[in-house]
Amino acid sequence: MDNRKTYYITTPIYYPSDNLHIGHSYTTVAADAEARYRRLRGYDVMFLTGTDEHGLKIQRKAEEAGISAQEYVDRIVANIKKLWKILDVSNDKFIRTTDDFHVKAVQKIFEELYKKGDIYKSEYEGWYCTPCESFWTESQLQDGNCPDCGRKVELTKEESYFFRLSKYQDRLIEHIENNPDFIQPESRKNEMINNFLRPGLEDLCVSRTTFNWGIPVTFDDKHVIYVWVDALSNYITALGYNQEDDSDFRKYWPAQVHLVGKEIVRFHTIIWPAILMALDLPLPKQVFGHGWLLLDGGKMSKSKGNVIDPVVLVDKYGSDAIRYFLLREVPFGSDGLFSNEALINRINSDLANDLGNLVSRTVTMQERFFGGVMPEKHEKNAIDEEIREYMLSLVPVVEGYMDKLQFSNALAEIWKRVSRLNKYIDETTPWLLAKDETKKDRLAGVMFTLLESIRIVSILLQPFMPATPLKIWKQIGIGSNNSWDSAKEWGLYPTGAKVLRGEILFPRIDVAKELAALEAMNEKKNEKKEEKKEEEPDNLITIDEFAKVEMKVALVEEASVVEGSDKLLLLKLDLGNEKRQVVSGIAKYYTPEEMVGKKVVCVTNLKPAVLRGVVSEGMILAATKGKKLTLVTIDGDLPAGSKIS
Ligand code: MSP
Repeated sequence: MDNRKTYYITTPIYYPSDNLHIGHSYTTVAADAEARYRRLRGYDVMFLTGTDEHGLKIQRKAEEAGISAQEYVDRIVANIKKLWKILDVSNDKFIRTTDDFHVKAVQKIFEELYKKGDIYKSEYEGWYCTPCESFWTESQLQDGNCPDCGRKVELTKEESYFFRLSKYQDRLIEHIENNPDFIQPESRKNEMINNFLRPGLEDLCVSRTTFNWGIPVTFDDKHVIYVWVDALSNYITALGYNQEDDSDFRKYWPAQVHLVGKEIVRFHTIIWPAILMALDLPLPKQVFGHGWLLLDGGKMSKSKGNVIDPVVLVDKYGSDAIRYFLLREVPFGSDGLFSNEALINRINSDLANDLGNLVSRTVTMQERFFGGVMPEKHEKNAIDEEIREYMLSLVPVVEGYMDKLQFSNALAEIWKRVSRLNKYIDETTPWLLAKDETKKDRLAGVMFTLLESIRIVSILLQPFMPATPLKIWKQIGIGSNNSWDSAKEWGLYPTGAKVLRGEILFPRIDVAKELAALEAMNEKKNEKKEEKKEEEPDNLITIDEFAKVEMKVALVEEASVVEGSDKLLLLKLDLGNEKRQVVSGIAKYYTPEEMVGKKVVCVTNLKPAVLRGVVSEGMILAATKGKKLTLVTIDGDLPAGSKIS
């Protein structure tokens, strides 16, 4: 029987994107550091990440690429997995929302909530932001755009299933207030309470009928399940919830922490806990909303040309250096700036100068003074005592910070010791002691203090930089079996251990040269983009893609205004061998009388949509400019149903 304490940590599941940037690595590297730390502390850790693969956005991208949605996601998910591999991410599971077990488990969740009455059928009208997969009411929009990302929203009306989110409002407020650690940092908690919960929650639209790349509702398969319900459920389906073998679910749920970027805290602290409450499941202990890594000009995703491709950066500087930068540069929780210059400066000052030098100076001196071997006798004095105390105080401080996900502070504490040790070398001047035969024991004392301190530092570096500690252990001549707790003890560096000078841990980077090289890479990249644009503008489609659109001449037989709308006309069309009805937003430009008898162009293979409760089975074409609109008609007399190509 395994009596170890369990620790379940998750990252959000990522949208498959072919444009992964360094900001994307942020949540996952942080989660990895915490997972590694907890393992070292003896926890039985479950660290989950994965991909969020459904939704209109993906469906459209796949359509643009001319491949099926499944093919599209399969290609991209491989890139994400590769990125985690090169960043030494140690996730225990990787879930894809297209995994069969997930699909089935989510369908069961939906059925269960429907049976309980927490999901009901109604009609939805609202504004939908496709990139964010979010619905907004008119009053939530900012200047008519999505309040989260500022992009255009689309008015959508459709028959939908709703989740009774409003029912859980009071319980959510109570839970958040009674559990101060539930939402961290504190500022995000206040935002949730004041901006979303207190003003009142509306029931949430949790199904869509206007696209089909999603998990079908089993009892009404016109509908697919809202992507956020699908995505959030991953945290329990990955553990076997609603499946035959749910032992991991029983073992690891509730999660200790969901690590998420600040823009998705709302989904994780309102919608997700309400779903869990409806399922009678315990809530995660904490949702931590970290800040964003920004570029000088703003959000990373909007940037062009800057070398922020994590694969390029890892290739140039190594995974440990990138991980160190991400975890050290910005206090976890706040926004911070990324620049190539800041990255190179950190690598040079903290890694090459401070840590790298400490190790290489120590190893070189030990080789020179003692043939690399630690003597048995070493003489200590007051300064060694001070260093010993200082080093022994490190573990509890680092643990305190890691328990609160304060990676930057933990690293800062470790680096205070590294700086102190470099200063210690200057103060004790081992090269002078080496000149005096009577000071041999004292020299051994100094070298012991240094090697012992490096041992402690290297053990504590493991969560952040998985490769470097191993290299250090090799150089200082100790094995690779160093427990976390052994950093709490002083004096374990063994007599007789032999150092072995190795390659430089972090070569110094010539800042000016490197920035110029990165700049040149950007220019090349931009030139390539420009060339591509000239040869092949982004909006070009192939003849095959065009051939997918089916258009026919249609004769308008009847026309009327759609009830309750001043924009929509309902047109009954004759298409030669069939009749159809189409709803068209032309009521401000054409009266129903004017329309009857017109021959128009109709797109006949559009998926049906419901507008103001009326089914529209196609679209008629019109040209617009500013406030003008004119229908596209055909030249000459062709019968209804003639194909347009
Ligand atoms: N699919 C949703 C999450 C569903 S979880 C049930 C999603 N995916 S995402 O790919 O857009 O984002 C994944 C993570 O990357 C988020 O935590 C997000 O905050 C993080 N980041 C993306 N760009 C970022 C920065 N520039 N800086 C820091 N983190 C950022 O949201």
